[in-house]
Amino acid sequence: MLRVIRAAFGADEAGHGDQVADLWAEVRAGEHLLAERVAVVGGEVVGHVGVSHCWIDARRELVDACMLSPLSTSPEHQGVGIGTALVAAAVEAARDLGRPMMFLEGDPAFYGARGFEPASSYGFEAPTPRVPAPAFQVVPLAEQPDWMTGRVVYPDVWWRHDSTGLRDPRLADIEAALGIS
Ligand SMILES: CC(C)(COP(=O)(O)OP(=O)(O)OC[C@H]1O[C@@H](n2cnc3c(N)ncnc32)[C@H](O)[C@@H]1OP(=O)(O)O)[C@@H](O)C(=O)NCCC(=O)NCCS
Repeated sequence: MLRVIRAAFGADEAGHGDQVADLWAEVRAGEHLLAERVAVVGGEVVGHVGVSHCWIDARRELVDACMLSPLSTSPEHQGVGIGTALVAAAVEAARDLGRPMMFLEGDPAFYGARGFEPASSYGFEAPTPRVPAPAFQVVPLAEQPDWMTGRVVYPDVWWRHDSTGLRDPRLADIEAALGIS
């Protein structure tokens, strides 16, 4: 499964497969793992999605929420619906966990077509300004009380691996692609 993550992200334009695989190895070995789902073809794992803990720092109380990351399909199996099925499986897993919201950082074109919406429209702030606004998304899993807004906080493992938001030059490139100046 770490092999799939490494292959999927290693093949992306930034080539940061090792960074994401190392992050996920530490998340799943710790207390913040909530769920994992894999896609298997011919007995081989070709897709993976992780769901892990985060918080909403609301004024009234700290709320347990969750985030979807990473999502990976082996390069040779992409484009046939595996990623879409894994997103649906992650949403179902998060609903079963009883978490009210699931967040992610990702392409709004991909995730927007799969049930996610801009998190800012629900009153949520990203854990760092280095997440382009349209990329910070949420799927609500329960009715949102008025007070349940605020900044999303990631566990420190995400910071140790410098995997919260993006950094330049990738940040600038993605902002340009999203039409943000
Ligand atoms: C993004 C990813 C998981 C999609 O998996 P998949 O199994 O190919 O997904 P599906 O076959 O269900 O859907 C294909 C869709 O993904 C889109 N897609 C492919 N690569 C993508 C990428 N790097 N970023 C965003 N969307 C991507 C395709 O354009 C297609 O979109 P459409 O259905 O709107 O036409 C896969 O391309 C991948 O592992 N990419 C590298 C890792 C990554 O970027 N993960 C997401 C981080 S937020």
